Amino acid sequence: MSTQKAEAPKGKLGVLVVGLGAVATTFMAGVLATRKGLAKPIGSMTQYDKIRIGKGEDKKYLHYKDIVPLAELDDIVFGAWDVYPANAFESAVNAEVLKAKDILPLKEELEAIKPMKAAFDKNYAKRLDGDNVKEAKDRWDMVEQLREDIRNFKKETGVDRVVVLWAASTEVYVPVDENVHGSVEALEAAMKADDKEHIAPSMCYAYAALSEGCPFIMGAPNTTVDIPAMWELAEKTKMPIAGKDFKTGQTLVKSGFAPIIGTRCLGLNGWFSTNILGNRDGLVLDEPANFRTKEVSKLSTLESILVPEDQPDLYGHGNDEDTQYYHKVRINYYPPRNDNKEGWDNIDIFGWMGYPMQIKINFLCRDSILAAPLCLDLVLLSDLAQRAGRYGTQRFLSFFLKSPMHDYTKGEVPVNHLFQQYVMLKNAIREMGGYEADEEID
Ligand SMILES: NC(=O)c1ccc[n+]([C@@H]2O[C@H](COP(=O)([O-])OP(=O)(O)OC[C@H]3O[C@@H](n4cnc5c(N)ncnc54)[C@H](O)[C@@H]3O)[C@@H](O)[C@H]2O)c1
Repeated sequence: MSTQKAEAPKGKLGVLVVGLGAVATTFMAGVLATRKGLAKPIGSMTQYDKIRIGKGEDKKYLHYKDIVPLAELDDIVFGAWDVYPANAFESAVNAEVLKAKDILPLKEELEAIKPMKAAFDKNYAKRLDGDNVKEAKDRWDMVEQLREDIRNFKKETGVDRVVVLWAASTEVYVPVDENVHGSVEALEAAMKADDKEHIAPSMCYAYAALSEGCPFIMGAPNTTVDIPAMWELAEKTKMPIAGKDFKTGQTLVKSGFAPIIGTRCLGLNGWFSTNILGNRDGLVLDEPANFRTKEVSKLSTLESILVPEDQPDLYGHGNDEDTQYYHKVRINYYPPRNDNKEGWDNIDIFGWMGYPMQIKINFLCRDSILAAPLCLDLVLLSDLAQRAGRYGTQRFLSFFLKSPMHDYTKGEVPVNHLFQQYVMLKNAIREMGGYEADEEID
């Protein structure tokens, strides 16, 4: 991994978002409103956080932009793809996340963001049926068309660099198959053979992005870039990749709360998490095959924070095999709540001499309001990473992600602990600013 200082950005930064739904339009509207001085980008680390550089008498606390050369919000130019033809203004209105008073002042700019035709396969999201979809001969043709879209976007807008961000629906679960996903060669062969079962449309977007010299971020739990073939492609093209699944509500709480249990050496018998939400994301996740992708992602959070093998007395109880605590995650589609998700966590812990206790957390959150700043941070930091010569999986971005990517073929474990992730983030910013990455992860 490179530790070089990031080069200063030149020109505009194109942000091509796959999916122009609730998250994407809330992200775009927030950036445009901030630019006009109409809103504040609350929740964004790149806009607010201050970290330490230097030690002892030399130490200073600075905003990221004063440590590394981040792209300015004014330099962002948006584009998108979607299965539905609605422009960003119509889609923001439909999503019902933001109030009219916050969307109307941005009408002209949002209307100008018209989605390009999507690379889509209904088998990957049965509940969607828009017609703004590419006619593609096979998966390889999808890739070619997406590459052309990226090139045209660059030409038409004159942007210097492009980052591609997946904020589209969760696809059905695609388990990693070594024969297809094990190498770029095998992946390309499968795309050319139109292997629809193993090549999700999202893989075509990622392949196209990396081949066109764009970092790619997976905001859904899809396994798209979480396969050796994409790691190899990212290495070959020298492009950063990040994923997967924005860490927004319940999982943010989990990755921040589990360390309390771990640090205080309390025991855990079980953790039951359930949600109700009623947006289109909820509708897609109501389909069991799509929910499976989310479930795998959400379940992974606790395992690396509260590790049964490390502390069998504390975490070695509970489930069927009696080897660890019971961890269950549920998402229920409930239209009246729309984007205002409600999450409940019931945590069964135990203390001194094994006496049981319970913790209940009830989070009434807003999904897209929590996801939008993550989109901004992931985009700006991926662009920065690319200018610092970093490529492949960007583990320092784990902080923003529910199911952080890691090289499972080499036995690497993901870092889910929020505060360890924060150290990784801070160290990477320090390094890309030419300072020493001087904080240890305990
Ligand atoms: N909001 C959160 O808190 C949160 C957290 C983690 C992950 N996510 C993920 O972010 C994604 C977006 O969430 P959302 O609430 O905006 O959903 P949404 O349903 O409002 O928007 C998704 C959009 O993607 C489009 N789409 C689907 N497949 C596509 C394809 N192949 N190409 C182009 N467009 C496609 C859909 O038509 C839709 O407009 C989901 O996958 C969700 O699971 C959201």
